[in-house]
Amino acid sequence: MNLAIFASGNGSNFSAIVKAIRQSRIKAKLVILVCDRPRAFVVKRAKKEKVRVVLVRREDFVSRADFEMAIIQRLRSYKIDLIALAGFMRMLSPSFVRRYRKRILNIHPSLLPAFKGSHAIKDAIDHKASFTGVTVHFVDEQMDHGPVILQERIKIRSNDTLSLLEKRIHALEHRMYPRVIELFCSGRIKYPKRPGI
Ligand code: GRF
Repeated sequence: MNLAIFASGNGSNFSAIVKAIRQSRIKAKLVILVCDRPRAFVVKRAKKEKVRVVLVRREDFVSRADFEMAIIQRLRSYKIDLIALAGFMRMLSPSFVRRYRKRILNIHPSLLPAFKGSHAIKDAIDHKASFTGVTVHFVDEQMDHGPVILQERIKIRSNDTLSLLEKRIHALEHRMYPRVIELFCSGRIKYPKRPGI
């Protein structure tokens, strides 16, 4: 199974997946990192791990369709079977999602459908929620949406700060995402026939 990770930022999930592959906890080949931000820390991580980086900047293309076509060409040439979004800060178009339907995973730091969007951890604190969590799901045409594969819950403590909660959420993500990727790679999870959410 040939895997591509899409990321735009720090890349701690990228590193957790790389580690799981190196330790044979995931039986897949990480073929490329697709990144839209050349200065993102994840690019440094990939270089250190000798993972090929495909840099595609949206600004270099006239339209989103052209931008995505450039990515699709690379995915095809590297024979990618599975895409794991790990902090990729761009919404994929419906036509991209249809092309890779059932083969795109995402991780999100909340119990979806609660707290969608890019400030999910802060939003949970601001809403004085008593718990939040992490969701790994298949990607469909909507943002932070699609059939849920795995969710785990985390209690928000009364003295929690954003950075304390972020730390616990990320630690949980680093356990969950490699596990789900391995379940997919070993054929133990499939996109549901009639997706609920
Ligand atoms: C994670 O919290 C993930 O759930 C979200 O983006 C963040 C990426 O973190 N989609 P990192 O770049 O993997 O450290």
